[in-house]
Amino acid sequence: MTEPVLTLDGVVAGYGRLTILHGTTLRVRQGTITTMIGPNGAGKSTVFKAVFGLLPIESGTIHFKGEDITVRRPRELLARGVVYVPQGRNLFPELTVRHNLELGGVTMRDEALLRQRIEQVLDRFPMLREKSTRQASTLSGGEQKILELGRGMLLDPSLVLIDEPSIGLAPLMVRQVFDELIRLRDSGVTVLMVEQNARSALAISDDALVLEQGRLALAGRAPDILADPRVGALFLGGGLGETASP
Ligand SMILES: Nc1ncnc2c1ncn2[C@@H]1O[C@H](COP(=O)(O)OP(=O)(O)OP(=O)(O)O)[C@@H](O)[C@H]1O
Ligand SMILES: [Mg+2]
Repeated sequence: MTEPVLTLDGVVAGYGRLTILHGTTLRVRQGTITTMIGPNGAGKSTVFKAVFGLLPIESGTIHFKGEDITVRRPRELLARGVVYVPQGRNLFPELTVRHNLELGGVTMRDEALLRQRIEQVLDRFPMLREKSTRQASTLSGGEQKILELGRGMLLDPSLVLIDEPSIGLAPLMVRQVFDELIRLRDSGVTVLMVEQNARSALAISDDALVLEQGRLALAGRAPDILADPRVGALFLGGGLGETASP
């Protein structure tokens, strides 16, 4: 049994008076890819914002590696090895690939270490090295997501929160991004992902979480969740075209 690296216990949070998370409790096991699915508006992105210190927590607690991080700020979480890759595009499109990477290290004090980490990221993703002098906007959507991931890797994270990485990407690109997540997991990083593309995401996941109206509705091993008829009907779509591919 792997230890949980991240736990939420009875987390209540939202936006001003609008409560979205109504006592969310969940566990993410160390070294897994864990995918959170759920209907639009269920609060999946809100869970990420709560964990990353972007929302005040009204009650409940959040622990990372056993430490209470309920009231930590994003900067403190970055320093502890938590990286957040939000939904959508998060690059400086006019700047080069390398410059985007450099900006990912602005919270790092040690410049030599930053340069070394950039080299490691460029080794890890040869595509980024090849295109390091290109403007970020000239990369494909999938390549841009990989650049965002690479930028997060500069901080040597142990937990990556990635929100809908496949959105707007062609299937081949989705595959590429998912392959990188698998590589990350295999190198010991825990990946917590939110995905609409539930079937493909669960296929590469160890664990799955189902969020409904700000509460955990179901949790378990990804294959079991994939096979669960309740989940199938709700989130995976019943179309023949969709059921054909894993
Ligand atoms: N900044 C905000 N201010 C007010 N309400 C917000 C804000 N962000 C999100 N919400 C509301 O919180 C609820 C949950 O939003 P959230 O983005 O967490 O859902 P989600 O599960 O990620 O949905 P999706 O699958 O569409 O991305 C929604 O009703 C949304 O309208
Ligand atoms: Mg969302």
